[in-house]
Amino acid sequence: MNEVSRELTKLGFEKGSIVETILVTRNPDGTLNPAPMGIARIDSEILEIKPFKSSSTYQNLRLYPEAGVNITNNPEIFYFTAFKEENAISFSIDKIFSLKGSDATLIVKVIDMKDFSEDRALFTTQVRSVMIRNPSPKVFSRGKAAAIEATIHATRIKEYLKIGLIYDAEKLMAKVYECKEIIEKVSGSETPERRVINELLKMIKGWRDELSK
Ligand SMILES: Cc1cc2nc3c(=O)[nH]c(=O)nc-3n(C[C@H](O)[C@H](O)[C@H](O)COP(=O)(O)O)c2cc1C
Repeated sequence: MNEVSRELTKLGFEKGSIVETILVTRNPDGTLNPAPMGIARIDSEILEIKPFKSSSTYQNLRLYPEAGVNITNNPEIFYFTAFKEENAISFSIDKIFSLKGSDATLIVKVIDMKDFSEDRALFTTQVRSVMIRNPSPKVFSRGKAAAIEATIHATRIKEYLKIGLIYDAEKLMAKVYECKEIIEKVSGSETPERRVINELLKMIKGWRDELSK
């Protein structure tokens, strides 16, 4: 096992499992674009990324085959990077794709690209380097996990409503409400996860109101 592979294992990347990260890619104008993306480790230094073709991440990876996989469990980083259009927030990212506030960054290079399905691509990447900024262990929080779960559902709700799949959107809205219950049970009122769920519910209400007009 080489150094990169050992570091990936230490960070919690297991073969065959998907983990949630913030992927930073390069926009055509040279600025950097952060977006939450699931990443699967399929071999010792090989990671797979499956962006929807509707995402900027997909367009960017096709044009510029290098990216940064940023690791965090902060729900607010997931929320703000998923909903950049709704929140005029600027992210501090350095030129090697590392997002301020993340615990570690992996630099990856695209080595293959193909279709995964009609609306999704599959990029195979090789990890070139690993930078760890926060090596301290953290406890598992159901509230943080639920806030990240609710954010991923909200990204699909937005997309489904856009293309008129109301029933699918409603099913995911019910899941967001389940996440809300978990967060209210286990997370304090001043936590990032409470702020995230409140913002998501506000956004969903706005989308609903828009629909019933
Ligand atoms: C935890 C989490 C995981 C996500 N995983 C993916 C993914 O694997 N592929 C994808 O296309 N979108 C995924 N999304 C949704 C995108 O992050 C979201 O659509 C985002 O706005 C895309 O940004 P972009 O257009 O800048 O690429 C995920 C969202 C969250 C919150």
